Amino acid sequence: MLSAEQTAQWQRDGYLVLPGFKPAAEVAAACDRARAIVAAFEPAADTGTFSTRDRSRVADAALLASAEAVHCFFEEEAFDTQGRLAVPKERSINKIGHALHELDPFFDRFSHGPELAALARALGLRQPQVWQSQLIFKQPHIGGEVGWHQDGSFFLTTPQTVTTFWFALEDATLDNGCLWVQPGGQASPLREQYVCDWLGADGQPLPGGPRLRMQLLDATPWPGSAQAVPLPVAAGTLVVFGGLLPHYSAPNRSPRSRLAYTLHATCGTAAYAAQNWLQRSPALPVRGFD
Ligand code: FE2
Repeated sequence: MLSAEQTAQWQRDGYLVLPGFKPAAEVAAACDRARAIVAAFEPAADTGTFSTRDRSRVADAALLASAEAVHCFFEEEAFDTQGRLAVPKERSINKIGHALHELDPFFDRFSHGPELAALARALGLRQPQVWQSQLIFKQPHIGGEVGWHQDGSFFLTTPQTVTTFWFALEDATLDNGCLWVQPGGQASPLREQYVCDWLGADGQPLPGGPRLRMQLLDATPWPGSAQAVPLPVAAGTLVVFGGLLPHYSAPNRSPRSRLAYTLHATCGTAAYAAQNWLQRSPALPVRGFD
């Protein structure tokens, strides 16, 4: 599956770029399917009308519910001061998640199969568990920056095993917000953990539901710009990287969108933290790439 050179690169740099992993026809079909999901999406009448405080609670609840659903999330800049959509609906979506790979027949097929299973094996994933799928839009002009982070913060396992599969569905360029990584940064510690407090300190349910927060684990600074390497890639390319690799993407101020699809998988042999926000119920058990 991987050449000796690719395996060495994976171990040295902490990421791999695999051009042409998905054929053009499948990539075009994925873009079509993404647009169809948005077209069918009916924003709730009260979308965007909450106070900042309420909005964060509503956003937490929407995120938690999306563990076993296909939910559209808006760009922060998509609303005017009255809480009305300020851009057309199809330009307002930040991402769709997080169970496309389970619930959407197209993305189920896209996310499973012998090629991905073999790649996961070659990258060292044992008994892979694919927790999450996301369509990330990076809309023209308003696509927001995603600052330096490590995906391990969101999928804590002991030991750390989460691996990201990042598929370019459109060309990702310096102008429209391609990924930037710190080669070798997978040797740095996990800096933050995204914690879900399911219950209060007294063991009782929290009023308003579970709360999400970012907790500092290690004060190691994020890399400087001199250590950041851009990964401009053509549509169909798959970028894979481990959960400790620092990465970010710049805002999209260009007129072209930058659609990507991601999967996050951990080893079933590692302990998956109970404080991870994404948990599965017995109704939708987590499964691998087969
Ligand atoms: Fe990430």
